[in-house]
Amino acid sequence: MSTYELILQRRTIRRFKQEPIAPALLEKCVNAARVAPSGANLQPLEYIVVCDPPLVAQVFAHTAWAGYLPDWEPAPGERPVAYIFIVVNRKCRAGGAEMDVGIAAENITLTALEAGVGSCMMGSLERPTLTNLLAVPKHCEIALTVALGYPAEDPVMEEMTSDSIKYYRDENDRLHVPKRPLAQMLHWNKY
Ligand SMILES: Cc1cc2nc3c(=O)[nH]c(=O)nc-3n(C[C@H](O)[C@H](O)[C@H](O)COP(=O)(O)O)c2cc1C
Repeated sequence: MSTYELILQRRTIRRFKQEPIAPALLEKCVNAARVAPSGANLQPLEYIVVCDPPLVAQVFAHTAWAGYLPDWEPAPGERPVAYIFIVVNRKCRAGGAEMDVGIAAENITLTALEAGVGSCMMGSLERPTLTNLLAVPKHCEIALTVALGYPAEDPVMEEMTSDSIKYYRDENDRLHVPKRPLAQMLHWNKY
């Protein structure tokens, strides 16, 4: 599959099979993030791989899922089996780093997907609790986590036909993700 096809195929996955992910693949994901572009090549990002099942379960308790699906979260038996936390080392970069974080997260996501592993980038986190739980030192900040696991759902992307950007589940419980049309987003030469 080409990189472009992989990018089009990627959807956020929030239901996962309970199969472990090989540590070598998790390490490969982090390596893909490590070599990503970095503003001024400061490389302020570090990574915490969480794959120990009791700790994975503890992390889940401090994450928030699918804001547009009220009162929904992955049920027991369909929760992530690993997380890769992206933390910013403030000794390397005093402020910002959001763009580095986004690029790193996408490298993790695409590397995982190439191996058949689905993911959900997660910014809705109880950071103080997770900082303690994962022993994140004072000079580092949790920016984002990527929840991982083999997919147990098959979301579909669709062109937006209304004003709503909200993803939703259909009568078969399949997730639909509206995307604004290309013609609305693309401007040639001038806006
Ligand atoms: C920076 C960022 C933070 C996100 N945080 C969460 C989150 O906390 N919980 C969640 O369920 N999804 C989260 N998502 C996933 C988005 O909801 C998802 O990307 C969006 O609905 C579009 O779906 P798609 O990824 O399938 O294109 C996040 C995505 C990004 C890029």
